[in-house]
Amino acid sequence: MSGKNVTEVRLADAEGIAAAARILESGGLVAVPTETVYGLAARADSAEAVARIYAAKGRPDFNPLIVHVAGLAQAERYAEFSPEARALAAAHWPGPLTMVLPRRPDAGLAAAVTAGLPTVALRAPAHPVMQALLEACGFPLAAPSANRSGFISPTCADHVLASLDGRIDMVLDGGATSAGVESTIVAVRADGSVEELRPGPLAVGRLGGGAGIEAPGQLASHYAPGKPVRLNAEWAEPDEFLIGFGAVGGDTTLSANGNLAEAASRLYAALHEAARAPQPRIAVAPVPEEGVGRAINDRLRRAAAPPDA
Ligand code: TXA
Ligand code: MG
Repeated sequence: MSGKNVTEVRLADAEGIAAAARILESGGLVAVPTETVYGLAARADSAEAVARIYAAKGRPDFNPLIVHVAGLAQAERYAEFSPEARALAAAHWPGPLTMVLPRRPDAGLAAAVTAGLPTVALRAPAHPVMQALLEACGFPLAAPSANRSGFISPTCADHVLASLDGRIDMVLDGGATSAGVESTIVAVRADGSVEELRPGPLAVGRLGGGAGIEAPGQLASHYAPGKPVRLNAEWAEPDEFLIGFGAVGGDTTLSANGNLAEAASRLYAALHEAARAPQPRIAVAPVPEEGVGRAINDRLRRAAAPPDA
C-alpha cells in the first residue's frame, strides 16, 4: 500500500475521513490536519505501519513519535497518569499540548513509536477532522509532522506534497492549520514537576528550569529551507528573500501589525515561499521572545542552523 508512487489528495469530508480510516486500518500512511501542523499518521499499535513512517520521512530511528488519542480515557491505556498529568489533560485537551509520561508496560504500542524509551508522548488534538478520524479508527495514531526529516513543517496539503508526494498513500485536506507551530511538549515527572521540552502554542512557561533533558528530535538543524537563513534582519541584502514582521516589511510578512499568533500561523508558509523563491538566501526580521514568539524563534534558530551542526 505505501511505497506506491501516487499520493491521493482527498477533501476531509465524511467520505474522505472514512477512506482515510480504512487506509490506516490496513497499515497505510495518511497525512492529516491538526490545529498545529499536518501529521503523518499510521496506526501506533502496528510495527509495520510505524516502520513506514520512519521510511517515508527518512527519520532517524532514535527519534520517538507522538501518539495521538481522542482524549484522556484512551490516553490512560498507554501511560501512567499522575494527578498533575490528569489536571493538565483536563485543562488543555483537546489542544496543542503533548505530555511525555511513563509508558504502561501493557500499552501495546509498537516499540519503534517510543524508540526504546520508558516514556511515551501523548496528545489529544483539537482539530475536528483529527477528532473524527480518531473516533472512526478506535486505535491510536502515531504522527510526526508530515515532512521529510529536517525539512520545513507543513501547514497545508501542498506543503505535505512538497516533500512527501509519492511516498505516502493519502493526504486528507482540511485546509490551512490554525496554530501553525508544533504542540508544546512537557514532561510530567513522577514527583509532579513539569518540564517544558519544546515551546509551542500553549504558554506552559519555563517551569522546571530548562537545563534538563530535551526531546531527542530537537536536533540543532531542523525546519531547514535548504538555503542560508539570516535572523534578526532589519533589511534585505540584494540576494536575500526577506520575511518581515511588524515594522520590518519584506517580500512577505509573518504579520504586518506585529501579531504573534498570526506570525505563528504564517511561519511555515513563509519559509516554504522563501524556499521556492529565486533568491539564494533568506533573511528574517526580529520576532519578540514572548508568548508564542518563543516557539517561533526556536523554529527559526533551527531553520538557520548549518546542516552539520
Ligand atoms: O503539533 C505536533 O506536535 C505535531 C502534530 C502532528 O501533532 N507533531 C510533531 O511531531 O511535531 P514531531 O515528530 O515532528 O515532533 C515530536 C517531538 C520530537 O522532538 C520527539 O523527539 C519528541 O516529540 N518525543 C516523542 N516522544 C518522546 C518521548 N518519549 N520523550 C521525549 N521526547 C519525545
Ligand atoms: Mg517535525
